[in-house]
Amino acid sequence: MSERKKVFIKTYGCQMNVYDSERMAEALGGQGYDSTDRAEDADMILLNTCHIREKAAEKVYSELGRMKPLKIARPDLKIGVAGCVAQAEGEEIMRRQPMVDLVVGPQSYHRLPQMEARVQAGEKALDTDFPAEDKFATLRTRPRMKRAPSAFLTVQEGCDKFCAFCVVPYTSGAEVSRPAERILEEARDLVARGVRELTLLGQNVNAYHGAAAGVAAGGTAGNRAAGGDWTLARLIRALAEIDGLERIRYTTSHPNDMGDDLIAAHADCDKLMPYLHLPVQSGSDRILKAMNRKHTAAAYLELIEKIRAARPDLMLSGDFIVGFPGETDADFEQTLDLVRQVGFGQAYSFKYSTRPGTPAAERAQVEEAVKDERLQRLQALLTQQQRQAQDAMVGRTVKVLFERRGRMPGQLTGKSDYLHAVHVTAPDSFLSQVKSVRIMATSTNSLAGELVET
Ligand code: SAH
Ligand code: SF4
Ligand code: F3S
Repeated sequence: MSERKKVFIKTYGCQMNVYDSERMAEALGGQGYDSTDRAEDADMILLNTCHIREKAAEKVYSELGRMKPLKIARPDLKIGVAGCVAQAEGEEIMRRQPMVDLVVGPQSYHRLPQMEARVQAGEKALDTDFPAEDKFATLRTRPRMKRAPSAFLTVQEGCDKFCAFCVVPYTSGAEVSRPAERILEEARDLVARGVRELTLLGQNVNAYHGAAAGVAAGGTAGNRAAGGDWTLARLIRALAEIDGLERIRYTTSHPNDMGDDLIAAHADCDKLMPYLHLPVQSGSDRILKAMNRKHTAAAYLELIEKIRAARPDLMLSGDFIVGFPGETDADFEQTLDLVRQVGFGQAYSFKYSTRPGTPAAERAQVEEAVKDERLQRLQALLTQQQRQAQDAMVGRTVKVLFERRGRMPGQLTGKSDYLHAVHVTAPDSFLSQVKSVRIMATSTNSLAGELVET
C-alpha cells in the first residue's frame, strides 16, 4: 500500500475561498492526500488567494517568500497558488516565484488531480481556464467524511455588476447559478454527514437564478449566461424542507437584488436566520453613482425598513469603502449619517484600494492620510454599534448551535441566530445541537451565556 501524503492549504479572502479549499482538499483526497494544518509536514502547500485589495494580492508573494526555506530544505515539496490571484496573475506568479509548481484558478480546481500528476512528474502546471464541463459534478465522488455542524455551500459565482472599484467581474467572470437540484443534493449529503447549518455563498448570492437541473455551473460561454426560474428564496424554502438542517444563511447580497420573495422568506421561513450582510459601501449618492452601485442612499434605507418590517429582530451587517476617488468630507459625513440611521450589528470597512484595470483606478485619488483618518472615524462608529448590539443581547434568551469545545474546560462555543459567538458551560453531547441559552455577559468579540432548561 502506498503511503498517504499531506497537503497544507492556506485560505485567504472570502468564504467562497473557504468552500473552494474544502473542495480542493477533497479533490486531492482521491490522489492520496490528507489535510494537515502544519506547513512543515506537508508534501504539497496550496495558497488559496484573494485579489480584492492590493494588500491581499501582495500577501501571496510575501507568503511564498516565507516558504522558500521549506522548499530549499525539501526540494520534493510542491508549492501551488490557487484562487483569485492565480486567476488574475497566473503566469506572472510563475515568473516572479520560480519555485511555484502549480497555479490553479477557482474555475479549474476540479482538474487538480491531473495537475498533481503532472507536478509529480516534475512538470509545471498552470490552469486558469473556465471549464466547459460542470466543475462541481466532477467532484461528486469525494470522500464522505463527517463534517462540522456549519458548512458553506457555493450556489452562485461571478458578478455582472461592475462596481467601479471591484476586480471580481474580471477575475470571477459572469454570473453563473448552479442548478437547484445539484445544490439540494449536495445539501442533503452534507446534512447526512452532520451539517446542521448551511451558509449559501455567492458574490451576488441573491441574484441567484438557477435552473431546476441540467444547466451546468461554470459551463461554456454559451450556457454561462443561461439561468432558470429558481430564485434564492425558492431555493431557501426547498432547503428548509430537509430534515436535520436547522439553519440557513446566505452571503453576499446586493441591495438591488433583494426581491420581495426573499424579504418574505425572512418573515416566515423559520430556518432562515435573522442576519443579513447587505453591503452599501457609501452613504453619498454622488459616490454611489461614481461607484456604479445603481441605487441611492435613500433607496438602501427604504429597503432596510422593508426588511425590518418583515423581520424586526434582523441583525444587519455591511461593507464600506472610504476614500473612493472623489470622496469629499461632506460625502464621508453622509456615510457616517447612513450608519447612524441603520445601526449595524457588525460591519467591514476598507480604505479604497486601486485595482489596475477597474474604472476607478484611473481617477484622481484621495490622499492616504485622509483615507486613514476617515477609516478610523468610521470604524470607531461601527465598533460602538457592534458593542451596542452585543450589550442588547444581555438578559435575552437566544438559540445557539454548538460548534466546538470552548477554551475553558467544560465549555462549548457556538453561534447564536444573530451570528454572535457564545460561550456556554455545557456537556460535549450538546455539540452539533441547537439549545436555548440565556446571555449573561458580553466581551469584545463574544458573549457568555447559560443553558436554559427546556
Ligand atoms: N460581492 C460582494 C462583495 C465583494 S468584495 C458585494 O458586492 O457586496 C467584498 C468587499 O470588499 C466589498 O463589499 C467592498 O466593500 C470591498 N472592496 C471591493 N473592492 C475594493 C477595493 N478596490 N478597495 C477597497 N475595498 C474593496
Ligand atoms: Fe464587486 Fe460590485 Fe460585483 Fe460585489 S457587486 S462583486 S462589489 S462588482
Ligand atoms: Fe477575494 Fe476572490 Fe473572494 S478576490 S473576496 S477570494 S472571490
